Amino acid sequence: MGSTSPGYAITIRVDGAVSSQPVAQLTQIILEMGASITALDVVESILDRVVIDVTCDAIDANHAELVTSEIAKNPELNVRKVSDRTFLLHLGGKIEVSSKVALKTRDDLSRAYTPGVARISQAIAKDPSDLRRLTIKRNTVAVVTDGSAVLGLGNIGAGAALPVMEGKAALFKRFADVDAWPVCLDTQDVDEIVRTVQIIAPVYGGINLEDISAPRCFEVEAKLRQLLDIPVFHDDQHGTAIVVLAALTNALKLVKKNVKDCKIVLSGVGAAGTAVARLLVAKGAKNIIGFDKDGLVFQDKGDSDPMRKWFVENCSPGNFLGTISEAMMGADIFIGVSAPNVLSETDVKAMAKGSIIFALANPDPEIDPAIARKFAAVVATGRSDQPNQINNVLVFPGFFRGLLDANITKITDQMLISAADAIASCVEDQQLNANFIVPSVFDQSVVQKVAAAVKRAGDKK
Ligand SMILES: NC(=O)c1ccc[n+]([C@@H]2O[C@H](COP(=O)([O-])OP(=O)(O)OC[C@H]3O[C@@H](n4cnc5c(N)ncnc54)[C@H](O)[C@@H]3O)[C@@H](O)[C@H]2O)c1
Repeated sequence: MGSTSPGYAITIRVDGAVSSQPVAQLTQIILEMGASITALDVVESILDRVVIDVTCDAIDANHAELVTSEIAKNPELNVRKVSDRTFLLHLGGKIEVSSKVALKTRDDLSRAYTPGVARISQAIAKDPSDLRRLTIKRNTVAVVTDGSAVLGLGNIGAGAALPVMEGKAALFKRFADVDAWPVCLDTQDVDEIVRTVQIIAPVYGGINLEDISAPRCFEVEAKLRQLLDIPVFHDDQHGTAIVVLAALTNALKLVKKNVKDCKIVLSGVGAAGTAVARLLVAKGAKNIIGFDKDGLVFQDKGDSDPMRKWFVENCSPGNFLGTISEAMMGADIFIGVSAPNVLSETDVKAMAKGSIIFALANPDPEIDPAIARKFAAVVATGRSDQPNQINNVLVFPGFFRGLLDANITKITDQMLISAADAIASCVEDQQLNANFIVPSVFDQSVVQKVAAAVKRAGDKK
């Protein structure tokens, strides 16, 4: 799985004597080290020396350091500076507030701020429904985290979660023109999180919960949904479930199977896994065998995890009491939202004809997709360097666009299913193949179709 990525791009400034052919030496070292050169500029030429900026994508941070030290070992090349392009992109953060109104004259100030603004506040005090009409509320979402389960990095805290939440806000803006703002809370106490979100809620038209660890995330979401009159959506649960259902709908179309008849093995019954199972059951799935880090999930641990209890009651494997390898025999679908290398080649080989594998653990999937593709009809991962990337960014911008535009206060399962159908429909029949079961995140129609589907489902409530 060692492919280079723009996430590990570095620019190395090197100088060398023209007579020693520094460009040729430099490119040869970088290519021999397995990095990909994406740009090369001679930025200065002084007498017989040239200064070169070479930009290359490495496999990871360690690989980037190895490439640099290999160049530095060459006596003909002098490494002056190394810049990490990802760090450069983050200097000063990724988002900002900008004013929608011109503030050029005294008149402008009098209307946008005092004294004019006082009349707007009075109007809202008199009629709170004006809050949506006369403020940012109707287009603003809080991206709330406690930093307890950030990406695959674990519990790294509120401050370290901020770059991720800024990124999420940037995606909201880019794809759906939603003004989202990070709210990283320095507490991991469920009641404190709930109370804090409750008291900041007047500003927002929706709450996107993010990277809060299971099972606390279920309680936070359930309590907030009860308390607030704006929609609350935990993206790690529902965003994942929607995009998985969308991809599965198209994969099943390809292999001509119905989810109702499929034997499904689910690895990972956490935030994402339980939400995926819930949507699959809502779509008619009857045979889901779940595994977590302790093996088969077949009984309630009595630890008051409501989603685990739901899973055991609704997806219990009947008489089956075995290992994941035993469960994989004759399985039609494998969905992994767990950890790397959970499956073996033999497990994949043992699946039914026309099998589907979604190995979504990030960054390293449950099985190497190249091995999975030897036997499975359709393979998807969460990775951007593989075909069929299952990515929540296909969901949350359009989903919130629909919620905000239609002033929806409560999210229903029907909205989740309709959003999944909308994403699946962005891949037309003539485009559908084993390497193209989900649309590109840059497909403009995705946001529009998802938003429209959410609005329609909201109307039918
Ligand atoms: N779109 C996507 O690609 C996408 C979306 C959501 C989650 N994910 C990935 O799915 C994984 C789980 O995310 P989550 O938010 O549900 O986390 P979580 O912590 O809530 O749940 C993880 C689950 O995996 C189980 N698990 C851990 N190690 C295991 C093992 N070796 N074998 C079987 N089960 C194991 C745990 O017991 C738990 O049930 C992460 O790697 C995450 O990056 C991918």
